[in-house]
This record gives sequence, structure tokens and C-alpha cells, in this order.
Amino acid sequence: MNFTADRLLLFGATGDLAQRMLLPSLCALDHDGLLDPELKIVGTARSDMSDAEFRNFARAALEKYLPAGRRGGMADFLNRLSYQPLDATTIEGFDELAKKVGKPQKGLAIFLSTAPSLFEPTIAGLQSAGLAGANVRIGLEKPLGTSLETSEEINDAVASAFSEDRIFRIDHYLGKETVQNLLALRFANIMFEPIWNSNYIEHVQITVAETVGLESRVAYYDDSGALRDMVQNHMLQLLALVAMEPPTSFDSTAVRDEKVKVLRALRPVKDGETVTGQYRAGAIAGKSVPGYDEELGKDSDTETFVAIKAHVDNWRWNGVPFYLRTGKRLPERVTEVVIQFRPIPFSIFEGKGAKTQPNRLVIGIQPEENVHLSLMAKVPGLDREGIRLRPVPLDISMPDAFAGAVKRIAYERLLLDLIVGDQTLFVRRDEVEAQWEWIDGIRAEWTAEAQTPKTYAAGTWGPSAAIALAERDGVTWHDE
Ligand code: BG6
Repeated sequence: MNFTADRLLLFGATGDLAQRMLLPSLCALDHDGLLDPELKIVGTARSDMSDAEFRNFARAALEKYLPAGRRGGMADFLNRLSYQPLDATTIEGFDELAKKVGKPQKGLAIFLSTAPSLFEPTIAGLQSAGLAGANVRIGLEKPLGTSLETSEEINDAVASAFSEDRIFRIDHYLGKETVQNLLALRFANIMFEPIWNSNYIEHVQITVAETVGLESRVAYYDDSGALRDMVQNHMLQLLALVAMEPPTSFDSTAVRDEKVKVLRALRPVKDGETVTGQYRAGAIAGKSVPGYDEELGKDSDTETFVAIKAHVDNWRWNGVPFYLRTGKRLPERVTEVVIQFRPIPFSIFEGKGAKTQPNRLVIGIQPEENVHLSLMAKVPGLDREGIRLRPVPLDISMPDAFAGAVKRIAYERLLLDLIVGDQTLFVRRDEVEAQWEWIDGIRAEWTAEAQTPKTYAAGTWGPSAAIALAERDGVTWHDE
């Protein structure tokens, strides 16, 4: 099944994601000539709006969120848009919606950017209005459930109308160029793969640090917490890409098969292998910020930080811990993967008093997109007594290496793939369920231990226990 859609139906078209990401991405794709000239985009949401009002709404979003240089042809893009108000909780309005969508010649792509509680009634409505046929595919925005059980319910509801090859579960991290670059780095170069295993790698660190707090997502975030908001999806995707075996090809089945194997090999986390935290008032970049409970307006046990020592139980990774940490209100916004190699087996320089440090590969995902390999080198000089060594960086900055390349929004890639029908960068059902199974185990452990989050001041790297989690093993978190 591969068709290019000539209709796109956007649920949640007046929401925050649509304004900040989806409409700007579509307009940018149009600007770059990547949208089918016939493509028509129908927005739908509860608000009552005419086509003209929706176009004005979209124009305001584009002017706010899309750089001026990528907005050329905006008027033509706005002409592709129309709007149909809909209460998705009842099937009544769906026939009108179908009329608005009209008869696609090539196919229809649907994107659900709504609360997951609306997924089931929406699917029922789409089905009743004949909007779920063989030439229709559907994209689903997170959260895809809050546990294995609820994610199965969503998956079952979607599967009752759409076959798996027409379901596109979004994890926007997979749309990031630098995340895809993990695959290029590993599988388009000869030098990493032979040493990408427990013989040469001592441990892996994955950090996704944010400076933002609750933003405007109070109810969602307080129900979710850092583990379900960030680890279940984005961090486990990063882990899977780092740990997977080489797929036989770069196609959706081969890549996803290998990711699932890693997720299924995750060892259930034990007592003492996780630390949770919640921020208190503090300062970030010199600016005072309130604590989580103040932002929320009540007390809460939701974790805004989590650190985990994870293990992938397979031949390649036996004995290699994966330290994961993510949190809100940390000192800086940074997403990175650190591969810490083992020490050399024997040093010929030791007798001359020179110490070597193990190599380290740091893959910067954001905001800096770079690859940084630390290598030992001789310090220049005519040392009579011996030799001096020091780690020096071998740095590759992606923006420098690809000067002039457009910096794209992750959703540009994902919306384009949804429209043309390529599932490689979308999450398959077995993948999302394997993620939830592991996450449910962690939550069960927290409940059994009655674990509540430790506090940390905003602007610090989480509770001190998170530092201790790594230090117990002689490991220091990168850049602390
Ligand atoms: C979202 C989470 O999935 O990812 C947010 O719900 C988080 O809480 C966001 O802020 C981070 O995305 P990015 O692309 O800014 O790293």
C-alpha cells in the first residue's frame, strides 16, 4: 500500500500543536515544493469557525512560528485550507465532515492531534462516515495510553478500522534529523560497529534535559509525569536506536523489527535503580522560577525528573548499564547520547608516568547537533622525563558540515511520510506495547516501594540521589 494522499484531515486543528508545529510544517513543505499540488487540507476541532476564519487563524500561527524565509507562497498554502467544526464525541457531525473532505482521487491522510479520550469516538465516527476505507491512513499523536492496558485499548480501537500498515504512531523524536543520524553514524561507517558492544563500551548515558516547567499543560503533565511523558517514548526510542542490531535494510519492517527486539530485552528495573524528583523554586540562567507545586497550585507526587539505570539483556550489551535521565527545570536544554568506552587493555605510557583516559563519544541531538569524540593525544613538547598525554576532541558540527541546509521542524518529515505512506519513522504496535510493559514494571516498583519524588532546586541537575545512582558505579554524568 503506497499512495500519496491528496487530502489531509487534521483533528485538533486549533490546538497548540497545530499552531506551533503542524501548520508551520505543512506550510514549510509547501514552500519547498514537497506537497502534491492537488493536496487539500481540512482542519477540524470543536470551535465554530468558517473557512476564512480558520485561514486567518492559520496565518497568525505561521507568522508567529515559521521563520519569514520559509513562508514564501503562504497565500497559496492558505488556499489549500478549509475548516469544519465537529464535536468528535458523537457521530452526528461526521457526515458533514466527510462532505467537506470530498472524494480524494489518490487517498486521504488523517492526523489525530487530540486528547486520547477522543480517539475511540473519532474512529467510530470516521468509520460511520466512510472515512476509514482502504485509501485512508491515520496518524496518531501521543500519548498513546498511560499503561500497557490503556494503550492496548487504543490500539484495538484503531485496529478495528485501520490495518497496521495504515496506522502511523508519532514519536516526534524520530522526525529529528540528529536522531536519524544515529542510524547513519552506526550503519554508514565501518569504524563504530566492531566496537559497539560490551567488549569495548563500558556504559551509555542518555540525557534529555529541559529548562521549561509545566508550560500550559497542567492537567496532562500532572497525570503523566516524566516517566510516561518522556521515557516511555522519546528516551526509549533513543535507547533502541543506540542498542539495536543492524537491520537488513532501511525499511520500516526491518528497522522496527530490530527496535522491538531491544525493547523486549530491557530488564525489569529493580529497587534502587531509579530516582525520581520534583523541582522546587530556583533559578535558571539567572532568572527565578517557581516550584512545581506553586505552578500547579496544589501538592502533587508527580515526578518532574527521573533517572534510571537500565540494562539490555542480550549478547551485545551484557553488563553495560544504560543510564537515562530526563527532567524539567534543569540547568540547560540538552539532549545527548554518551558512549563511554572502556580503558585500553595495557598502556605503554604508564611507565613514563602518563595517564590515559578512556575514549568517549558524545552525540549531541539538540540544541547543538554535533558528534564529539575524545581521543588521547601527545601534548607537544620535548619532555625529557617522558611523555604527556591529554584528551583532545575530534568535533563534527552538523550545521557546519552541512552549511546552508534548512533546519527543519521534526513534524515536516513526519507529516510528509504520513502523506506519502512511509512508516519507517513511526512506532509499530508491538513496539509501543513493549515500551509500556517496561514502564508499567517501573511504576509497579514505585508503588510497591511507596517511592515519592525527592526535591531538587530548579536550575540543578535533579536530586543528589540521581548523581549517587551513577557514582555508586564509579560513573559521572556527562557535563556536571
Ligand atoms: C513532548 C513532551 O513529547 O516532548 C514535552 O510531552 C516535552 O513535555 C517535549 O517538553 C520535548 O520535545 P523537544 O522536541 O522540545 O525536545
